[in-house]
Amino acid sequence: MKLFEDKFELFFNDLTLHQFKEECLSKSLKALQVKNGNIPKWNESIDELESYSKGELGLNEPYISIQDIGSSSENIELSLRKLLPWRKGPFLLNDLVLESEWLGDLKWQRLNKKIRPLKNKRVLDIGAGNGYFSLRMALEGAKKVLGIEPFMLFNYQFAAIETLSKNTSNTILLPLRLEELPSMPVFESVFSMGVLYHQRDHMKHLLMLKKMMATDSELILETLIVDGPRDFTIEPEGRYANMRNVYCLPSTDTLKSWLIDAGFNDIKLIDVTQTSTHEQSKTSWIGYNPASLEDFLDPSDSNLTVEGYPAPKRAIFICGN
Ligand SMILES: C[S@@+](CC[C@H](N)C(=O)[O-])C[C@H]1O[C@@H](n2cnc3c(N)ncnc32)[C@H](O)[C@@H]1O
Repeated sequence: MKLFEDKFELFFNDLTLHQFKEECLSKSLKALQVKNGNIPKWNESIDELESYSKGELGLNEPYISIQDIGSSSENIELSLRKLLPWRKGPFLLNDLVLESEWLGDLKWQRLNKKIRPLKNKRVLDIGAGNGYFSLRMALEGAKKVLGIEPFMLFNYQFAAIETLSKNTSNTILLPLRLEELPSMPVFESVFSMGVLYHQRDHMKHLLMLKKMMATDSELILETLIVDGPRDFTIEPEGRYANMRNVYCLPSTDTLKSWLIDAGFNDIKLIDVTQTSTHEQSKTSWIGYNPASLEDFLDPSDSNLTVEGYPAPKRAIFICGN
């Protein structure tokens, strides 16, 4: 089973991107060498999906939809359930509704009309998960979308979606961390969504984002924030809303000062939304013993997490470099 190798040449066959091809390929191939006991099951899933004729990728909001796949919905479902949990989506595959934990369309609607048009742009999607948003970017007419995501299951989920669809050649997902990407200052739109709070060193992340941006390009930064004045942050001890590795939650004014310190300009806060249990919910696609946001909030006060921190709230900033 080949995750990205078959389309690598075609994707990097681009006047600007080709200079980074070899380094991206060698690092991605190295990342594939990880040992994971689930890989035989995940390969089986993709092998099954490969035997069906491909369908047409499109948008049927809130779903990314693939229609006219040459198989029954029952068969597609059996194969895709080998890749649980499906956190990001939702997808509509023939008439199979894949209700992921997150209703990704809600986040997309918050930013879609406020960012610069993606048409004909080279786009970088950092921490892309299974590529739901990378595909939304491609469906907006982006020239190339490079998603990077170190978690191997999500790379398999992306491979499953692309195995089922004909028209995904301008989008690729590589199993890389931002720190592993060569410095490629060629992207006209750079997305970092849901990634900053997972970084031990938030300034390092912001500075690395900047190094990926072409002249006169746009950063779209979405991350968890807390209410409070400038310089206020919360550094959770242990878990935050049951999540591990959440290092630092800034107020929006603190985050703005970080962006200024990192050298960004024309900084605009375009959205602040507290995550609802409608947007992030238990569905049958996240496994057989599901738990989601509703289980991670204080049962007596939904504005607090079970650990006693403010409930998850996310901000979206856009800025120039
Ligand atoms: C909360 S998910 C967000 C997924 C998607 N971007 C979204 O907005 O829904 C964060 C993802 O970032 C990935 N990630 C964390 N640190 C990263 C890094 N340094 N470089 C690239 N991806 C990273 C994680 O593996 C995880 O899948």
